Amino acid sequence: MQTVYGIKAHGGQLINQKDFSAETLAAAEQLPSLTLNAWNLSDLELIGIGGFSPLTGFMTSDDYHSVVKTMHLKNGVIWSIPITLPVSKAVAADLVLNHEVALRDEQGTLYGTMLIEDKFVPDKMLEAQNVYGTTEKAHPGVQRLFDNGDVYLGGRIKLLKKPSHGAFNAFYMEPIETRKMFHDLGWQTIVGFQTRNPIHRAHEYIQKLALENVDGLFLNPLVGETKADDLPADVRMKSYQTILKYYYPADRVRLVIYPAAMRYAGPKEAILHAIVRKNYGCTDFIVGRDHAGVGDYYGTYAAQELITSVQAELGMHFFKFDNAFYCQKCGAMATAKTCPHGEQDHISLSGTKVRKMLSAGVVPPKEVSRPEVARVLIEGLKQKREVRA
Ligand code: ADX
Repeated sequence: MQTVYGIKAHGGQLINQKDFSAETLAAAEQLPSLTLNAWNLSDLELIGIGGFSPLTGFMTSDDYHSVVKTMHLKNGVIWSIPITLPVSKAVAADLVLNHEVALRDEQGTLYGTMLIEDKFVPDKMLEAQNVYGTTEKAHPGVQRLFDNGDVYLGGRIKLLKKPSHGAFNAFYMEPIETRKMFHDLGWQTIVGFQTRNPIHRAHEYIQKLALENVDGLFLNPLVGETKADDLPADVRMKSYQTILKYYYPADRVRLVIYPAAMRYAGPKEAILHAIVRKNYGCTDFIVGRDHAGVGDYYGTYAAQELITSVQAELGMHFFKFDNAFYCQKCGAMATAKTCPHGEQDHISLSGTKVRKMLSAGVVPPKEVSRPEVARVLIEGLKQKREVRA
């Protein structure tokens, strides 16, 4: 048994559903197969390595309904987004309850097993409304939900092999490992930072404000599935490495990937993001403006409000930040809480505008993006276009 250092995992115990033994693998090879897409595979991995503690499998109907209706697992532990395994009715019909299946990726590689404890028909309208706050298919998370199969499979899993993260393998760690790393670094207070975007000055500002108050920063970009117009994860990873090299003290930051898919569920996803980072060993978590938001679906501070209402249950400390921008009169990054000047003095660009500039090879103002970072992003996007051409 490995020692579990640091803050108590969500629900009390850091889950480990890994089983890499040759016997288990050989037995699994004989089981009927179920094919997982990249999203489900990343969920399997996160359950297996304990990132989704206390989950030990895909949710059965009692946990699913409880999470959708009450934002808590059936045992009362707070949980905000169902972790489910949707399949088509035809696939579900062939699966036998209380039997195991082998979980494979689309190429047929075996990654795990699952005991089929439950097959159930979800209430997708209710799930969309309660988790995403909308039933509109224009919302990428809702679209995904309705595109998914109409039967959910629930049951305990085993992770038999870890998916490769290719070029990101050097930045991959399990929660048990990050906890040991924080312990070895002597960090007692660690702030987690979620991001799905290239790093900009507002990110840097809020990270460093938090870092003034804690021992270390756990920069934990999401590299799983994102919507098509988000910047590719490999290009983003270069932006993080670049800014760390030039603008951060190396001994106070660690960059590790978060291999999950992005749900765009705003406030509900902020809770999931916090829970997972607690499982990785973070004592603190940053929630800025419109965390995990998309379009105009959520209020700018709705995620902060929800987090505040359940902070005690989450058992972490939160750094909540107002919208940050560069103020020319202050000559510094600021928010409305610290800057007396008007919008005409503020420099801030929307993510969409910055993406357009970068794609066109235009360096955004240095008040928005560090020039070293902008150059890396422009080059990365150019290479992508050349590969596609
Ligand atoms: S997210 O979907 O992963 O939340 P993003 O990578 O843009 O998107 O944001 C990462 C974190 O930084 C989130 O907590 C978000 O609220 C915060 N954030 C992003 N931009 C700003 C900003 N200008 N001011 C304050 N907080 C911000």
